[in-house]
Amino acid sequence: IEKTFQPRPLTGKKVIVTAGGTKEAIDPVRFIGNRSSGKMGLAMAKVARDLGADVTLLTTVDTDLGGINIIQVQTAEELMKHLQDTFPETDVLVMAAAVADFKPINVADQKIKKNDDEDIFTIKLTKNPDILKTVAATKDKQFVVGFAAETQNLLTNAEKKLASKNADVILANNVAQSGAGFNVDTNRVTLLQKNQQPETWPLMSKIDVAKKFWDFYLTR
Ligand code: CTP
Ligand code: CA
Repeated sequence: IEKTFQPRPLTGKKVIVTAGGTKEAIDPVRFIGNRSSGKMGLAMAKVARDLGADVTLLTTVDTDLGGINIIQVQTAEELMKHLQDTFPETDVLVMAAAVADFKPINVADQKIKKNDDEDIFTIKLTKNPDILKTVAATKDKQFVVGFAAETQNLLTNAEKKLASKNADVILANNVAQSGAGFNVDTNRVTLLQKNQQPETWPLMSKIDVAKKFWDFYLTR
């Protein structure tokens, strides 16, 4: 039997990937969510595992991937808590989760009933912490990768996120474009780094984006 040589260049590296959209409770049966499928984050985790990394996946998506330590979370608050516990020991953080920017101020204990004489129902929201910014502010050795989901002015908005979040890299994607972004298996991303020209990669499968990213990480 011929054995193919599989290089495992991420052996010994601790990688944390966050994936999927957070779900912020309104009452026991309802939540505020978003269209993120978690596919890009899952691809980043799988490829890192295949390259030999010790991978922890913090995710809102119900999944079971062999060889990956999976921690299931629902809300931004839970994600933040787990990340703060694990970040100091990590080498690379890939923040692919679509974190809700706001959550309901109050979570009702019981299912909210609709009212016959009111046609408008208002939910007051309060800002969630910026997890990436908070965690990356404490970084020393860690390599931090953020995403930027945009529907317009991709480069300008992503440049701002690169600067404000203390990330080493931002992977920006236009989520309004067909074949990229939410709930599809392909993506077109632009990689941004400080003091470097942005690099736009062609449309490709999310697995191939992940392979290209880890190749970039290993050869940068
Ligand atoms: N992020 C985070 N915590 C939040 C919001 C976002 O950690 N409360 C992270 C995301 O996981 C992503 C990056 O920040 O890696 C950018 O998220 P994005 O939604 O594109 O940007 P925001 O900073 O939230 O700005 P806006 O949604 O207004 O464009
Ligand atoms: Ca946001």
